[in-house]
Amino acid sequence: CGIVGYIGHREAYPIIINGLKRLEYRGYDSAGLVLSTQNGFQLAKTKGKVVDLEEKASGLDKTPHIGIGHTRWATHGIPNDVNSHPHMSNNNRLVLVHNGIIENYESIKQLLIDKGYIFHSDTDTEVLVNFIQLFQDEKGLNLQDAVRTALNEVIGAYAIAVLDNQDPDTVVVGRLGSPLAIGIGENEFFVASDASPFIEFTKDAIYLEDGDMATIRLGEAVDVRTIQSNEVVSLDIQELQLNIEAIEKGGYDNFMLKEINEQPRSIRDTMRGRLLVDEGVIKMAGIWDNQERFLNAKRIIIVACGTSYHAGLVAEYMIEDFARIPVEVEYASEFRYRNPIIKKSDVVIAISQSGETADTLAALKLAKEKGAFIFGINNVVGSSIARITDAGAYTHAGPEIGVASTKAFTAQLTILALIALKLGKHKGELTNEKFNLLTRELERIPDLVQQILDSCEGVVDQIAEKYKNNSNAIYLGRGYNYPSALEGALKLKEISYIHAEGYPAAEMKHGPIALLDENMPVIVIATKKGYYEKVVSNIQEIKSRSAKVIAIVNEGDLQVTSLADDVIIVPETAEEFSPILTAIPLQLLSYWIAVKLGKNVDQPRNLAKSVTVE
Ligand code: G6P
Repeated sequence: CGIVGYIGHREAYPIIINGLKRLEYRGYDSAGLVLSTQNGFQLAKTKGKVVDLEEKASGLDKTPHIGIGHTRWATHGIPNDVNSHPHMSNNNRLVLVHNGIIENYESIKQLLIDKGYIFHSDTDTEVLVNFIQLFQDEKGLNLQDAVRTALNEVIGAYAIAVLDNQDPDTVVVGRLGSPLAIGIGENEFFVASDASPFIEFTKDAIYLEDGDMATIRLGEAVDVRTIQSNEVVSLDIQELQLNIEAIEKGGYDNFMLKEINEQPRSIRDTMRGRLLVDEGVIKMAGIWDNQERFLNAKRIIIVACGTSYHAGLVAEYMIEDFARIPVEVEYASEFRYRNPIIKKSDVVIAISQSGETADTLAALKLAKEKGAFIFGINNVVGSSIARITDAGAYTHAGPEIGVASTKAFTAQLTILALIALKLGKHKGELTNEKFNLLTRELERIPDLVQQILDSCEGVVDQIAEKYKNNSNAIYLGRGYNYPSALEGALKLKEISYIHAEGYPAAEMKHGPIALLDENMPVIVIATKKGYYEKVVSNIQEIKSRSAKVIAIVNEGDLQVTSLADDVIIVPETAEEFSPILTAIPLQLLSYWIAVKLGKNVDQPRNLAKSVTVE
């Protein structure tokens, strides 16, 4: 979910609406806002997107200068008008928006019901707002103290913003596990789940730490305190690096297509200042400053979710290949709950675009407790993961807004290649000659990606047209392109809602082959390096079951081209970096299929970009 709030001299309404649109990537099944007036609260909320909210809010007085808003990704209770945020307390004095989950809400709810409180929604949030009211009613506490007392009783994760109509120039916010930024302008303040809603108004921001809350009052400095012990926390005001162009569509129909096309730049930006080919050096302070930990690591464990997990699978192959350090890759959600073996000599790397994914964050915290060295690969500067890790490296992909990850994935592959090469060199496993050859090849990748973008579009469009009505697809790849097959299938599922499975090509005969018939398209990554001959045999097996083959091949390919129904050509590169190239046509294929099916590619149903609940 996304939270936004404003208090200052401007009209709050447009700031909240625009802010919610920028935060919609965090969830978009319902939206709501409240404006604070002299005569109480004006509230509008609805199932649906922020545009639906605008319609619903059309009758509101838009002049108030204080308000909070919310865009939801449902956890407790289906998306409907009543479950949408903001939620009001029984006495209509308090109103609250919340991102996260209150785990002990049922026992609190029962306590409140016993005291006569009434609930209208199925949400944990309505429980929280009434719980705060309870402390005002029974103990006479002011807003700040009532919020703090309630939060101390709550188990779970949250970022909240609360308004009190008896204290109308104040917003109280708090966080534990879900992000919250406070923008500080001239006699105005903004609150939001990330800085994008207020980037055109101020560059000064405070990122609230876990376990902190803040009282924001016009004309006063922000008062940050710990929730647990009410101790004052000194303000750490940071200068934001984000710019407004980066979060706009820049002439494209949607963010996903913009982001696919940005990849030559985002990959180049991720290598910039790090890959110094002529000097034979890869500069990465996060690795260099901790080289003892890396070079002596008995094992590297990579934790991640979704697309980032697929990047981790490629990294396993690269790091083991180049540096001969054993690597394990795990879904963060499994790792954190299965009592894993974590040793002090382990390095645990978390890969996460957002740096906020709840499971990945929790897996890292567990590794930290056990004494492992924890390293983050994130795209969002200042994110929660970036702040708790011992060291890390940012991918410089720029803000990724389309929910299906594209440029963040290829930027992750790029940085992981740099890390693997650097470790390989310092471990003495890669000769200078091989290192130089590979770094020279890596440097060419942005140009090769551009070449694919320039040449592929028409072909992919035709293939999308041909297969868009199939209800299933299988993706196959081997070696370095096995994770590419998983990622290709994920992309298709995410945005076109076509069922797709990714498999290592040789595993096909252990099950998926039973699914093959003339209605099953099989997308096979068949680039020249990496078991080409074996993949050719797999294609023969598919063809003899009458299924259709769409192959991704290298320039000059003859064998696969003669067998496949359709081919997409990508330039040849080192096998280790080929997943960066094969990702591009796979992204485009799902993009065009989804567009042709009339789907919303930026905001696919039921998904959210940043999953801050477990
Ligand atoms: C969500 C997104 C995916 C993303 C995954 C992990 O499911 O929809 O695109 O890969 O979270 O996110 P992270 O920010 O940790 O990379």
